Amino acid sequence: MSDFAVAQSAAREEIRRGLLGNPPSISPKFFYDRVGSDLFERITRTPEYYLTATEIGILERNLQEIAAGIGPRAVLAEIAAGSARKARIVLGGLNAPAAYAPVDIAEEMLADQAAAVRRDFPDLKVIPVAADFSRDLAFPEFGFDHGGITVFYAGSSLGNFEPDDAAVFLARLARAAGPGSRLLLGVDRKKDKAILNRAYNDPGGLNAAFNRNILNNVNRLAGGDFDPEKWIPHQFYDEEKGRIELWLESAADQTVRVAGETLCIRAGDRLHTENSYKYDVDDVLTLAAPAWTPLHVWCDPDERFSVFLFAGRDTPPGGGAAATVE
Ligand code: AVI
Repeated sequence: MSDFAVAQSAAREEIRRGLLGNPPSISPKFFYDRVGSDLFERITRTPEYYLTATEIGILERNLQEIAAGIGPRAVLAEIAAGSARKARIVLGGLNAPAAYAPVDIAEEMLADQAAAVRRDFPDLKVIPVAADFSRDLAFPEFGFDHGGITVFYAGSSLGNFEPDDAAVFLARLARAAGPGSRLLLGVDRKKDKAILNRAYNDPGGLNAAFNRNILNNVNRLAGGDFDPEKWIPHQFYDEEKGRIELWLESAADQTVRVAGETLCIRAGDRLHTENSYKYDVDDVLTLAAPAWTPLHVWCDPDERFSVFLFAGRDTPPGGGAAATVE
């Protein structure tokens, strides 16, 4: 079997298992086909989805300090690169970056975006890494001298893991990045429920369309006949669990064939598509602690979002012991 066929059959099996689970679910990584990636990019530009603009503001305001904490000749390895909007800001501030290595599951998007970054930074090496980082992650042997890998994990995507899995993932990043590494991590904070519910229920319906579009991708990947129009999207904040939840609710009794299974679905049955955990600063320090030493934490004035800089545990933090929180 080709690599592509292996990946396709693994995706189909993962989808099958999720749909037969209790509750039935689809992994959020299947949101990101071309349409889903485009919808997400448009969500990040809505005024309600404050996460992106707030994180960009933090990066821009603190760029010098961030660059100093990362040091010269870094390889900036961006996980779930998306549009690379934030990486461009960081790259613009870094001292002689050795390379930009975007890592993403959406291969087509990755190639386009790598080409766009090459156009903006013609002297920079751009090395795209196509990987399902939720399963496994290894960086290529770069074959040139550099000042260590800085993993850039922005946009609060860490919140899309369950907390235990988030800790495991952070440790995996440290192992993959190796000696002398840094982690630049952006995480959305717990806050007023109304602000969170607005962010995930924009009046233009982009979040709803994004949620529903996962069924189109599942149809393609697992030979399904879901009719997305027969599903009502829900996005809401559960204060007790500290997370946004995304569900699709069946609008009618229906039969769906997918991944070799026949699903008999009742009106009102629900499919879980995503959790998006919100974390206070201390929560993140605890999740990262086994693998990463905090160097600095920056927040916006309204304390909506935090950006952390960590050093890999093998690397003594340059010049200071305790993290500074601003
Ligand atoms: C990619 N991730 C951080 C987004 C989030 O906010 O959890 C995905 C998203 N889901 C609904 N809208 C956006």
